[in-house]
Amino acid sequence: MSSENKFDMHTILTKSRLVGLWRLLSGFRTLFLIAILCLGLAAAGKTATFYLIRFFIDDVLGDAGRSGLLPLIALGFVGLALAQGAFSFLSGRLAAQTSEGVIKRLRDFVYDHLQHLSFSYHDKTPTGELIQRCTSDVDAIRRLFAMQAVAVGRILFLFLINFGALLSLNVRLGLISVVVIPFVLVISYFFSKWISRTYEAYQEQEAKLSTTLQENLSGIRVVKAFGRWDFEKDKFEKENAEKFEKGKKLVVAHGLFWPITDLICGGQMLVGYALGAIMAMNGEISLGTYLAYTGMVVQIIWPMRMLGRIIVNMATGVVSFGRIAQVIKEKWEPLLEGGRRPEHLAGDIEFRNVSFEYDKDVPVLHDVSFRCRSGQIVALLGRPGSGKTTLVNLLPRFYEYTGGDVLVDGVSLKDYPRHVLRRFIGIVEQEPFLFSRTIRDNITYGVERDVPDEEVVRAARFAAVHDVIETFSQGYQTMVGEKGVTLSGGQKQRIAIARTLLKDPRILILDDSTSSVDMETEMIIREALQKLMQSRTTFIIAHRIQSLMRADLILVMDQGRIVQSGTHRELVDREGFYKQIYDMQSQIGVDVDVEKDARNVQL
Ligand SMILES: Nc1ncnc2c1ncn2[C@@H]1O[C@H](COP(=O)(O)OP(=O)(O)O)[C@@H](O)[C@H]1O
Ligand SMILES: [Mg+2]
Repeated sequence: MSSENKFDMHTILTKSRLVGLWRLLSGFRTLFLIAILCLGLAAAGKTATFYLIRFFIDDVLGDAGRSGLLPLIALGFVGLALAQGAFSFLSGRLAAQTSEGVIKRLRDFVYDHLQHLSFSYHDKTPTGELIQRCTSDVDAIRRLFAMQAVAVGRILFLFLINFGALLSLNVRLGLISVVVIPFVLVISYFFSKWISRTYEAYQEQEAKLSTTLQENLSGIRVVKAFGRWDFEKDKFEKENAEKFEKGKKLVVAHGLFWPITDLICGGQMLVGYALGAIMAMNGEISLGTYLAYTGMVVQIIWPMRMLGRIIVNMATGVVSFGRIAQVIKEKWEPLLEGGRRPEHLAGDIEFRNVSFEYDKDVPVLHDVSFRCRSGQIVALLGRPGSGKTTLVNLLPRFYEYTGGDVLVDGVSLKDYPRHVLRRFIGIVEQEPFLFSRTIRDNITYGVERDVPDEEVVRAARFAAVHDVIETFSQGYQTMVGEKGVTLSGGQKQRIAIARTLLKDPRILILDDSTSSVDMETEMIIREALQKLMQSRTTFIIAHRIQSLMRADLILVMDQGRIVQSGTHRELVDREGFYKQIYDMQSQIGVDVDVEKDARNVQL
């Protein structure tokens, strides 16, 4: 549907959530209105049945001469029942089609939207929270369209048709049967306010619970290794108990609402029936009219009760809509902003008095300055938390530096659109993430062209992982993760190296790429990395002096500052952090990691 593609989801962001919901329906409105209209027709069919009853009792039953009409009347009842069934069915189908369509579009949009948000947004928003919004909240909106909104239409029709019919039967009876409506509406309004507050708290708590669960499952190894399941269990139980409490409040609110409105509506019916009966006995209305009235009054009271229920249920859908709107309101990371779009990048890099903070007034990098030429290797060394990862994350503009400037080929980083920069930069992370797809898919991930098999194999050979892959029965088609093989840290590293190689970046970032592997694997990976580094500007963060000795520039970092810089030759003779680490590692042998020692070294 073309209107579906053109729809701008941001138009749903208005002050009034109801207006927003109406806009969300854009492209589906006709279908939706037809769905509601069908319900109106079904309601009219029902009301017509009561007229037929009246006609049957008042004009046929007492008149032997009209017995010939009986089969026709029987046919009339059957026909009306069929029409009601058909229109209800049609309406249900159309409503489902509308809601599923609207929701699919919304869900696709939110999913895509989430991937476009900045790192800072994802840093501060728990994953469980986002999952909650993509699933439970989206579903509440689906229900709103599939059931509640349609039901409101149905009720309006039922009310209008039956009220009209009641008035035509007898004006006094008709008016009496609607006196309680204002009360029910006012009560429903207050309950819907109360319930939406309670529901919002409930949804928030559910999101917390999902976050706890999601973190626990992602970190299951750590939990087990540290024997913290009791702690995790308590944490979960605490959140769960809190959800139970919030759920209880919601149930209480619902639980109070139904009996109150039931009582009002029940009283209304009782009074109406009694009054009708008296009028019938006094001969003011016919028996047929009385029977038709009792039938119709149910048709008007029922929707009144339901209207309250639906207003209350809609409140939950509207709350969920608000929660999703909050996410949609977040601005995309501007990928295309910036006028500099070179075909080729040399890779000369200069940091000029760069400072950076993740959170306001908590500086993480201070006055960082250095420069390197195209093809050189810059190594970063320092305690955990000294700012190494932060520094390299500035290059692909994952975060924006707050002071100074970074120049790439003499041009400020801010002039390069993010997506251009990221095409030129390859990153092998400390713990590479592989998707639950085939090994081949993981190696070719992010390469914007068809990669022939030979090239995949060449990259894997180069990353020293081809032989490993060959040992799997399905080779490159082996699934990674839950449904397939479990790869070791070193194997993942090497697949990530192969992936980066195919990307062929000009600037390479190796963040602790050998930290989680044994000595032998480290040797293999280091060799692979060495090849990968050739003729690229490389930033390498490493634990072991051996990995960084050959760098053209070594930066020693401490608390977000560069405290020493130079080549290995220059640094090893100078008193300081580097020399201390070097001495320590050459004494004990290479199987010591700098970060571990670093904690014990005084600067
Ligand atoms: N996403 C983030 N949000 C806020 N603070 C962060 C974030 N990432 C890292 N930090 C903080 O920034 C400092 C530097 O961290 P990092 O660059 O990861 O150090 P390193 O890589 O040297 O171990 C640390 O104090 C860390 O707590
Ligand atoms: Mg780090």
